[in-house]
Amino acid sequence: MTSTAQHTASDIKDLSLAPEGRRRTEWAERSMPVLRLLRERFSRERPLAGRRLAACLHVTSETANLAVTLQAGGADVALCASNPLSTQDDVAAHLVKDHGIKVFAIKGEDHATYYDHLRAALAHRPDLTMDDGADLVSALHMIALNRLDDLAPPVRAWVETLSPADRKALVAGVIGSTEETTTGVIRLKAMARDGVLQFPVIAVNDSDTKHLFDNRYGTGQSTLDGLLRATNLLVAGSTVVVAGYGWCGRGFAARARGAGANVIVTEIDPLKALEAQMDGYRVAPMAEAARVGDVFVTLTGNVAVIRVEHMRAMKDGAMLANAGHFNVELDLAGLAQAAQGPTHVRAFVDEWRLDGKRLFVLAEGRLLNLAAAEGHPASVMDMSFANQALAAELVVQRARQLTKDVHRLPRELDAEIARLKLGAMGVAIDTLTPEQLRYLASWEMGT
Ligand SMILES: NC(=O)c1ccc[n+]([C@@H]2O[C@H](COP(=O)([O-])OP(=O)(O)OC[C@H]3O[C@@H](n4cnc5c(N)ncnc54)[C@H](O)[C@@H]3O)[C@@H](O)[C@H]2O)c1
Repeated sequence: MTSTAQHTASDIKDLSLAPEGRRRTEWAERSMPVLRLLRERFSRERPLAGRRLAACLHVTSETANLAVTLQAGGADVALCASNPLSTQDDVAAHLVKDHGIKVFAIKGEDHATYYDHLRAALAHRPDLTMDDGADLVSALHMIALNRLDDLAPPVRAWVETLSPADRKALVAGVIGSTEETTTGVIRLKAMARDGVLQFPVIAVNDSDTKHLFDNRYGTGQSTLDGLLRATNLLVAGSTVVVAGYGWCGRGFAARARGAGANVIVTEIDPLKALEAQMDGYRVAPMAEAARVGDVFVTLTGNVAVIRVEHMRAMKDGAMLANAGHFNVELDLAGLAQAAQGPTHVRAFVDEWRLDGKRLFVLAEGRLLNLAAAEGHPASVMDMSFANQALAAELVVQRARQLTKDVHRLPRELDAEIARLKLGAMGVAIDTLTPEQLRYLASWEMGT
């Protein structure tokens, strides 16, 4: 149990929601056997003992299981939201009340509160950070580069109260970081390319046991779930336009097709477009797809993928959503200028009037699966967060050897996570015979 001081150190919606959050977190834990094994080992070995860890992640029941695992490893954890709409308020309450973890996250928080929560995580003075979208690392780098104008006002106001030595110490104190998602990894690789990265980062998203499963099966299923919960749409017979055929797009396209949709894929990469075509989807430019789609979902990690020119071409009643990391994939600023609205018509659905037609924007263009549904199922986050826990351990073990670059977890750890997951699923596989080992290592044998 925690003290009152620890409660007041957090900023959450309502501490009395903790019992429901605990039940929900325990439910998720049942499907997270790999993380559970790691937690047992972390409790014995305490690899993160004495470390202060700031995490900016979606505050969900799966993340709660990760936070408790990191705490079991000895870390003093502070957690803020990585999206204003993805927090499960009961889970946040559970972490604060039952584990004494500092949490700064409220579902529906405004822009200023989002960044004030990020500031609170930085004020934890972490020596290890964990990001989903690179917001913590990016703020630390704006401080390091003295680009205070690029900080959100709540972070900037706080930084201005720190002495130059204190600012330096804040950044220099971070021995390394880990990053969860594609968009964050892209930002971090850009920092490394520009030679400004101040510490090593482990790109958890680059592990096969992350993007192959979380991005594909997790985003695929939970985006469909978010679409259904927000709209109660009959997917069968609808035309669903999927922008982006990367890991997330492939997953969502497959699930939408499975539910009976006619799927159209839009892409800018000829290889991905060809793959979508051969997977049996119709492939078309957005300008063409816009005219026939009933539902549009972006999963690209890119900006302004659906623009006003596309929206003008859409049918009356078209629905627009995003499942990419940031709410930049739909040009909502352009829509707000060109259209009348929004009228809030039901939870997570806003109606806009454009040229006399109704367009429905879901979840304000933020990650549909986390805003309107519960994010990825725990079973898939089991692997993503096993990667996160191992990445945190690796940063602590190897901080001195790792260069200031973006690294991936060693392949052996990736394979080990897959092996443990298969074991937990009761799935056995074959092993190479000595003859097969020799054959695969030799070049002499031919026809
Ligand atoms: N919603 C979630 O829970 C969740 C989970 C994982 C990742 N993500 C986010 O989803 C986004 C996609 O991730 P990913 O792992 O699939 O990335 P990816 O790189 O595998 O795929 C992105 C695809 O989008 C395509 N693309 C880029 N610009 C485009 C455009 N203008 N039009 C059409 N296609 C375009 C790219 O060619 C690529 O094939 C990222 O922002 C990532 O952070 C979200």
